[in-house]
Amino acid sequence: MTEEEYYTFIQPYEDAKEVLLARLHVLKHNLYEDLAGRPIHNIQSRMKKKKSLEDKLRKKDKEPTVMNAKDYLQDIAGVRVICYFVDDIYNLVDALKRQADLIVVRERDYIREPKPNGYRSYHVIVGIPVYCLDGMEYFPVEIQFRTMSMDFWASMEHRILYKKSARIGRDRLAAELKQYADMLVEIESRFELHSEGKQRQEQQKAI
Ligand code: GTP
Ligand code: MG
Repeated sequence: MTEEEYYTFIQPYEDAKEVLLARLHVLKHNLYEDLAGRPIHNIQSRMKKKKSLEDKLRKKDKEPTVMNAKDYLQDIAGVRVICYFVDDIYNLVDALKRQADLIVVRERDYIREPKPNGYRSYHVIVGIPVYCLDGMEYFPVEIQFRTMSMDFWASMEHRILYKKSARIGRDRLAAELKQYADMLVEIESRFELHSEGKQRQEQQKAI
């Protein structure tokens, strides 16, 4: 695909991403009554670059055309939402699902079922309605919900291992990273004891 084709093609995906970001910002301020208990620590977003879009299509044995990108790729627009607690993630996902004009295309809960390497995150691909002159069309945006500790681990793993071409010591490193993932789950569960949700549950038990 040419540069021009690429930019024309990704425009509505970028628009979909902006719509979703606006909705997430609203939820950040309105999800909980308690203003101090905001669910989101920070939000990152990105558009897939032309080269990685083409590389991913080739990996799937598809010609790198915009038609194929539309048909086979659902992570052209990506948003990463970093939360404080696991409960915040599920509350945000529920709140998004209650927005009647969004559609859920795919969900993967790597929190309840982490990947064997230790990767944890909640992935959901949502279809966002984008209105233009000819009417409305849904465009997919991939959302990755993570706590800060999930993001810490995933970012380090990505940096150290995911992109590492050298094979030497890979297995040992992978085993070491899995250990860190387990340690982070343990630390996270201790922080969870101090979440507003857990404190409320404890108070109710005491009554
Ligand atoms: P992709 O072909 O990578 O899109 O995989 P998929 O379509 O099966 O989707 P999945 O939901 O499993 O993963 C999508 C994205 O999650 C990846 O592009 C990464 O950003 C992230 N991810 C998934 N697994 C890992 C992992 O083991 N380590 C890290 N650091 N990130 C991961
Ligand atoms: Mg993907």
